[in-house]
Amino acid sequence: MKKILVTGATGQLGAELVPFLRARYGRARVVAVGHSRPAAPELLDAGPFAVADVRDGAALARLVREHGVDTVYHLAGILSAKGEANPQLAWEVNMGGLYQVLEVARVQGCSLFFPSSIAAFGPGSPLDDTPQVTIQRPQTIYGIAKVSGELLCDYYHHRFGVDTRGLRFPGLISYVAPPGGGTTDYAVEIFSAAVAGQTFVCPLAAGTSLDMMYMPDALRAAVELMEADPARLRHRNAYNVTAMSFTPEELAAAIRVYRPDFTMRHEIDPVRQAIADSWPNRMDDCVARRDWGWRPAYDLATMTDEMLARVGSRVPATTAAS
Ligand code: SER
Repeated sequence: MKKILVTGATGQLGAELVPFLRARYGRARVVAVGHSRPAAPELLDAGPFAVADVRDGAALARLVREHGVDTVYHLAGILSAKGEANPQLAWEVNMGGLYQVLEVARVQGCSLFFPSSIAAFGPGSPLDDTPQVTIQRPQTIYGIAKVSGELLCDYYHHRFGVDTRGLRFPGLISYVAPPGGGTTDYAVEIFSAAVAGQTFVCPLAAGTSLDMMYMPDALRAAVELMEADPARLRHRNAYNVTAMSFTPEELAAAIRVYRPDFTMRHEIDPVRQAIADSWPNRMDDCVARRDWGWRPAYDLATMTDEMLARVGSRVPATTAAS
């Protein structure tokens, strides 16, 4: 029976992955680890919670030992735009943290889930139908840590037999915990403006196409990958996965189906724009579909419908695995 530890448990992905895993495997079987105590009491009350810095390998090793952990979802990290404000810290946390987690996984025999990103690609990569295996020369410290992390996961698998598995997530759209510091965050923030009846000020230019995914698909993708038959996994660095690709105007038009008065104007943030321009317009995720059966459930229309309803009422989504 699985015993799971999740780092970055209070972040955008962790805040939803922890309850999702607890619903699937049992509350006591998922140890949530944040680098500070969560504001949301649900996380503290619903199962084991510990405070640790992912750069502190000894603390992680102790938690893994004490709780008999066999699987780690290592989500802690600093996002792309925030990383550019302090690249040294971003490297230390994103790469240093992953190294510590990989060492714990090697010594204590844990499986590891590592979220890579569209940020692992760069201007030298084909930006349309970006293949699973292609040139990866990102220009952000966040993306450089993702590529390096992918390679290190691959290395630990082939050299030490660690069961490493990863996904190149697109921008994740959700309403429970804010993302904070990412380039794709506009696609989350736009919903709060739409529901409040405000004009949304978009930091990206018209025509900027990016891959995106609604959170319930991201949770399911992570768990399906971790439960997949290892014999089918030909890639141990990270798999391309996507669900939809759109520009800010396409998202605004999808919102206007439900809120015809919604307005948006552009005030371009040069840091975020340069990052977005270097990332894929649309990834090709056919290898994930073939190897372990990946299929997204949400597209732009169904995601928009549900986001408007949830942000409007702040009702928790049903995140049961299918
Ligand atoms: N959503 C992330 C960001 O924008 C990319 O993985 O930084």
